[in-house]
Amino acid sequence: MKTLIVEDRGDDRRLLRYNLERQGWQVVEAGDGFQALELMTEHKPDLVISDALMPKMDGFELLRRMKNDPALRDIRFIFYSAVYTGYNERELARSLGADAYLVKPLNPQEFLRQLEEAISGVTSARAERPKRMVAEQEAFLARYPGIVATKLEEKVRELKAVKEKWVKTFAALHDMVILMDKNKKILQANASACRFFKTTEDELRGKSCEIFCGPDCPCKDCPGDRTMADGGDHSAEIYHEYLHKTFEISSSAVPDEDGKLDYLVYVITDVTERKSLEEELFQAHKMEAMGTLAGGIAHDFNNILTAVLGYSELAKDEAHIKGLTTSYLDEVIKAALRARDMVKQILSFSHKKTGHLQPIAPHLIIEEALNLLRNSMPSSVNIRTRIDCDCGKINGDPTKLHQIIVNLCTNALKALDDEKGVIEIHLRRRQLSADDLRTQEEVRPGPFVELLVRDNGCGMSKTTKQHMFEPYFTTREVGQGTGLGLSIVYGLARNMGGIVRVHSQPGVGSEFRVLFPVLPAASERDTVPIIADLPMGTERIMVVDDEKMIAELQKALLEKQGYKVTALTSSNAALKLFSSDPEAFDLLLTDQTMPEISGHELAAKFLARRPDFPVILCTGYSSIISKQQALNMGIKFYVHKPVQRCDLVRFVRDVLDNS
Ligand SMILES: Nc1ncnc2c1ncn2[C@@H]1O[C@H](COP(=O)(O)OP(=O)(O)OP(=O)(O)O)[C@@H](O)[C@H]1O
Ligand SMILES: [Mg+2]
Repeated sequence: MKTLIVEDRGDDRRLLRYNLERQGWQVVEAGDGFQALELMTEHKPDLVISDALMPKMDGFELLRRMKNDPALRDIRFIFYSAVYTGYNERELARSLGADAYLVKPLNPQEFLRQLEEAISGVTSARAERPKRMVAEQEAFLARYPGIVATKLEEKVRELKAVKEKWVKTFAALHDMVILMDKNKKILQANASACRFFKTTEDELRGKSCEIFCGPDCPCKDCPGDRTMADGGDHSAEIYHEYLHKTFEISSSAVPDEDGKLDYLVYVITDVTERKSLEEELFQAHKMEAMGTLAGGIAHDFNNILTAVLGYSELAKDEAHIKGLTTSYLDEVIKAALRARDMVKQILSFSHKKTGHLQPIAPHLIIEEALNLLRNSMPSSVNIRTRIDCDCGKINGDPTKLHQIIVNLCTNALKALDDEKGVIEIHLRRRQLSADDLRTQEEVRPGPFVELLVRDNGCGMSKTTKQHMFEPYFTTREVGQGTGLGLSIVYGLARNMGGIVRVHSQPGVGSEFRVLFPVLPAASERDTVPIIADLPMGTERIMVVDDEKMIAELQKALLEKQGYKVTALTSSNAALKLFSSDPEAFDLLLTDQTMPEISGHELAAKFLARRPDFPVILCTGYSSIISKQQALNMGIKFYVHKPVQRCDLVRFVRDVLDNS
């Protein structure tokens, strides 16, 4: 059978043709009514299968004209429509002489079945048709405009509903969705994008992707560029320095009628928080592994150092007996002791639960540390504190907590340009849920005490953030930092069952939060007492410590109690000053481990000039000199570092009173 398919949609036409040709039919195609009339005249088909709604001339008009043309009127005509499917349309079609009305969509078998049925039924009905022609013409003219108007209305309603649905969907999407033209200018942006940029869609329209990348636009790896190049779907995860955010961006091409790129659709997900959680998890695993490794090495190293120290001391004794010089061995011993101190620090980072933990009220320790810090910080630093005294008690170690805040504040100070800026220190109670602790499975949800140290200094780059907790990682110039500060903070916090969280942006500042689980009320036994009435004095004290910060802290602390304090970081300078006027001081408070002259050597030199001169020696955990040796040589008091304020002022007073 020779068939003419009349259909404005190319895809539908091709599908129909394929179907019919498989049945051995001959097929001709037309895209609209006018073309159909021409092809009918030319090819004289046996059958026309036509869509109803078509541009230029629709199916009804085509049928009407065909039936008015004596040369074409006998061709069979079947509607195949998805739009005009109501009773009125079918009636109109029938009255105009259509042989059948099939409703789209039909699967191929069903379509062929209904088509066959329509064709076979056609012959009987055809006989009476010519008589009705005039009536049909009139009926058509009377009913057609009404049908078209109704259809139009229906279509408009449908389109409106579709548009509304699309607008609502577009607005409801949680991810940002942006449509961009070929010049990468925004055509449309959804509500999520407007919320993100805190602006309106009108404001965004016409803007380029500069709103994401700033002046570096376009950023490398832009998936949109790749989509423009090959028309494919692309995605990338991009960190936009400009917004300090990481986005997952996917782009797709929307083609026009000719299949060419019309516009781009970007779906943009802000994954900054997820990334930081991932990084935190990664950090936690890395630090865990490093802690285990460091712990193992430190343990073996301690054994080796014990041997080095032991044998060096034996060798020194023998050398002494034989009247040989021991200075080389002294150096070996000093170096070994330094190594032992370092091992101690590494062990503190290896998270092994060391030391004795007890219920402490963190605000007391933090306030005490803040008093010291305030005195030692330059006045150009604006220190803002907010300490909640009812935040609860934690299982901790006052010295360790002290060390944590001092390390964090030291870093904050160093981050400030020209030592000018703001350092905020807050202590408060916070509830952490399982969700908040996603990356720390070993920490249980519940109430926590949060210590926050925030500065508005230089902030940290991504790389620094990745490595900051690693022991010996430092960005400071040689001699300006060991890179142990944060690794110790991390280790000590973990030691006390706490966690450390960091947020930092280059050029904006850094924020360190250390969170400790709050002890249940029942276990809040005695807390470490902080003495309000500390003993005072007016004596002249010389403080010597090669760590400037410590020397200054001790100075500030003792001055607060009324003493006149001279703080020095060089033991050579201390000796020189004392030698110039041995009566100018009433007490020496010295560190043991120092370059140039060590603490006990310095004490010996002081005692040589003034045998009863009161000396207090502060040592690290392992010292070349034992307590007994120190006391034997005339040192009045021997104390392990770090020393707390209340202890320090007490023993200073005791030593002075008993001398
Ligand atoms: N508040 C901060 N602002 C900016 N950068 C910081 C801050 N705190 C730490 N850092 C960065 O992290 C690095 C490691 O800090 P950490 O305290 O471990 O070592 P350090 O300060 O370099 O040396 P140390 O503390 O041993 O004197 C620092 O070198 C610095 O680059
Ligand atoms: Mg530091």
